[in-house]
Amino acid sequence: MNTNVLTVTDGRTGKTYTLPIDKGAIRAMDLRQIKVDADDFGLMTYDPAFMNTASCQSSITYIDGDRGILRYRGYPIEELAEKCTFLEVAYLILNGDLPGETQLKDWISQVKHHTMLHETTKKFLEGFRYDAHPMEMLVSTVAALSTVYPDARHVLDPENRRKQIVRLIGKVPTIAAYTYRHSLGLPYIYPDNDLAYSANFMNMLWKMLEPKYLANPVIARALSILFILHADHEQNCSTNAMRAVGSSQADPFLAVAAAAAALSGPLHGGANEEVLRMLDSIGSKDNIPAYIEQVKAGKLKLMGFGHRVYKNYDPRARIIKWTADQVFQVTGRNPNLDIALELEKIALEDEYFVKRKLYPNVDFYSGIIYQAMGFKPDMFTVLFAIPRTVGWLAHWNELMADPEQKIARPRQIYTGPEQRHLPADKPTIRVSVMV
Ligand code: SDX
Repeated sequence: MNTNVLTVTDGRTGKTYTLPIDKGAIRAMDLRQIKVDADDFGLMTYDPAFMNTASCQSSITYIDGDRGILRYRGYPIEELAEKCTFLEVAYLILNGDLPGETQLKDWISQVKHHTMLHETTKKFLEGFRYDAHPMEMLVSTVAALSTVYPDARHVLDPENRRKQIVRLIGKVPTIAAYTYRHSLGLPYIYPDNDLAYSANFMNMLWKMLEPKYLANPVIARALSILFILHADHEQNCSTNAMRAVGSSQADPFLAVAAAAAALSGPLHGGANEEVLRMLDSIGSKDNIPAYIEQVKAGKLKLMGFGHRVYKNYDPRARIIKWTADQVFQVTGRNPNLDIALELEKIALEDEYFVKRKLYPNVDFYSGIIYQAMGFKPDMFTVLFAIPRTVGWLAHWNELMADPEQKIARPRQIYTGPEQRHLPADKPTIRVSVMV
């Protein structure tokens, strides 16, 4: 008996259909043959928020939500965070394998030679109000890069795609740093190609009048680890946005801007900023029980908790907790950590969270580290967007090379009124030509 089939019987007609099962899925289009008569459109699936719909086949990232597993191109996130630099992992995510020594050297050189922004982009940034949110500045400025690189619209050319990918990975940290400097009224600092990726980012953020910025190696490594942890996460909301916009063959600058816009939402990457606001509002361990009661009453969400896929501890949160200890040895302990640890302890023992399999996710502890490093909460999602640019671009590149992919255009179930007509006495609008 062929076991890789699904046999369904349509109760409306009594007909039976055999649908092939491949890689744990059936093709939605195979349902369209199930009709009540020749005029019938055929069956669709109804799946709001894509709770159970695979939109693509991808070889980039694997997540097992029940076992708390995350792998980039097969490598466990724990090993990558411990033994790789961010640009090594970026190369892996984009190309499928870790770079050899020469490949890595060439890759780093390419990225370094694309860290500067066209001077007009600095003027574009100057147009924002002093108190503009850095994430909104980032989204807008990345989109504006599309006007600087009109060749980026040749998205069907793999070599052109590679060139834009390097440009974006090189320039997004520069834009991110400039949004930070803009919000503080400080002059922009040019990239320093003597420095590694995260150290150069720190240079553009924090260099003042010293002749050469010296990045604290503990902080630089912590940022590199945080970038690795945030680099990709398969079909999350912002990657779905990247693929949807990319599927219309829009250029990658506009698609990354759309993805970053999706990331900014408080249910997604914006959660790390909301976690800090939540911890600041709780203020002390004594206030935790009352806050938890409000969450259980459905009045508030426990920001940084829960996940669509992880129904176990987010493996990234565990690594971030370890990284926090390294950072606090340099910056001093962030008192919010004690509140977060107590909040986690209480939540993980409470039936409300246990029953719903709500665990800390990547955003629960990341903000505490960023705050200890000196970032304001409104920069936290920008720090998420920098590394996730790699994941968005890897998925975009995979999409553009996928022969099965077409412009994304979901169906709907129409629930509006049947055909109806305007009142017969409503006059026709006529425009007379002025002579
Ligand atoms: C990221 O997709 C990704 O991979 C994302 C990400 C990535 O790397 O790209 O991992 C990054 O976005 C992490 C998530 C950051 N967001 C937050 O921390 C915001 C708080 N979390 C929630 O809003 C929520 O958990 C989501 C959005 C993350 C997931 O929502 P789902 O899968 O749609 O789950 P749900 O809202 O249907 O919740 C199921 C139940 C509900 O209770 P009931 O209606 O069954 O009674 O759990 C409850 C929810 O109310 N619930 C929470 C909760 N999260 C879910 N209750 C309190 N606090 C929470 N945080």
